[in-house]
Amino acid sequence: MDAFVIHGGKRLRGRVRINGSKNACLPLLAAALLTDDAVTLHDVPDLSDIGNMNRLLESLGCTLAKGKDPATKTLRITVTNPEPIEAHYDIVRTMRASICVLGPMLAKRGRARVSMPGGCNIGDRPVDLHLRGLRALGAQIHNEGGYIVAEAPGGKLKGGRVFLGGPFGSTVLGTDNVMSAAVLAEGTTIIESAACEPEVEDLANMLNAMGAKITGAGSPRITIEGVEKLRGADYTVMADRIEAGTYIMAAAITNGDVVLENFPTDTLTAVMDRLEEVGIGVESILPDGSKNPAPGDRMRDVVRVFSARRLESVQVVTQPYPGFPTDLQAQLTALLCLADGNSIITEKIFPDRFMHVAELLRMNANIMRTGTSAMVSGVKRLEGAQVMASDLRASAGLVIAGLGAKGTTTINRVYHLDRGYEKMELTLQALGAEIERVNLPAT
Ligand code: EPU
Repeated sequence: MDAFVIHGGKRLRGRVRINGSKNACLPLLAAALLTDDAVTLHDVPDLSDIGNMNRLLESLGCTLAKGKDPATKTLRITVTNPEPIEAHYDIVRTMRASICVLGPMLAKRGRARVSMPGGCNIGDRPVDLHLRGLRALGAQIHNEGGYIVAEAPGGKLKGGRVFLGGPFGSTVLGTDNVMSAAVLAEGTTIIESAACEPEVEDLANMLNAMGAKITGAGSPRITIEGVEKLRGADYTVMADRIEAGTYIMAAAITNGDVVLENFPTDTLTAVMDRLEEVGIGVESILPDGSKNPAPGDRMRDVVRVFSARRLESVQVVTQPYPGFPTDLQAQLTALLCLADGNSIITEKIFPDRFMHVAELLRMNANIMRTGTSAMVSGVKRLEGAQVMASDLRASAGLVIAGLGAKGTTTINRVYHLDRGYEKMELTLQALGAEIERVNLPAT
């Protein structure tokens, strides 16, 4: 089993290009099921979750072809057999996001059998809101032997009013599912309490490029006028805001100085707000080399990140977008281990998403968890140790801790990281980190 071995303490310096977003790309891939034409996506990240989604699409009758130029990371998806309707347990159990084929299948094929995704290390993760939303469009849904079995009466969904608010806010993939289903429904659908995440907007943009009529994506009310048919599209996946945030924190814990290209500035306002308070500087670099654009200037996709020697403590609450994202909570927790004073982190999306805390304690962190909050008291130094990755973002937090720690950190089970970070060890090596991938006997 692969592990990372990190010799901490090296300052990160250099340039990194942020990849296409995993969480945007997965529903974009699923949306290819909505048309008989080819959908061509650019900047598709090379990740195991994307590989799993590709396998799922193949099992659902799609033919996939990679572009000739590896630099553009192009993938062309064409439905060549519209018959299959089953997303099998063997694939769904490897990736929860498989659920986003449900809406497209129901809308285009009139029927779907999708294995019920289980919980995972960050919580129970129910799909009741997805199902409630699809039922509001007329779908008949029942559970059969661990599968969600869904049917559109007469093969066609009907527009309706859908409310997607739940106990922890809206649902991102649920909004994607209902929106993708509504584009081919008869009549108009209004989604209230829709997720406002930029990845939802990215999906709406691609669906509109395919001929859909969606307005309001990115706000809590999305209106979709159903159309008869969608055509293909040629679309570039948005940059990964979580990968960008992770590399900012990796740079900061090493007191580094790093330039990030393809940086999704507009999607990271809450993150930058908190990080500035921690003492991290982010300065935009314009194409002509000048810095700090005038207000309103949107040419801000290249930024330089640098940090003060002393990091300050901060209070952070994770929230649905545009709040601080839960997917950067573990990384921030790791960074704050070396800040002065006491920081408080409250998790409002996945209340149990604290698996990284016990591992950070093994590295000399001082963290006290109570309920859905953790108090991180800064320590003078983190110590390298053997630690275990438990989920994708927790693993990223451990890498950040390892980069800032004294001595050697071995992170086991990095297959979790490979789900969402493309060749992370090579990116960090290029920035000067001492990190390598090794193969260790399974633990
Ligand atoms: N929820 C319900 N019922 C539902 C759906 C969700 O109660 O039917 C609850 C969840 O349990 C959670 C909250 O609502 O407490 C938000 O969950 P959401 O449905 O928004 O999560 P998701 O769409 O399944 C996506 C990302 C996650 C990210 C969350 C929140 C993808 C593929 N996954 O998941 O990303 O944490 O939104 O922003 O887009 C990750 O990349 O590491 C990751 C876990």
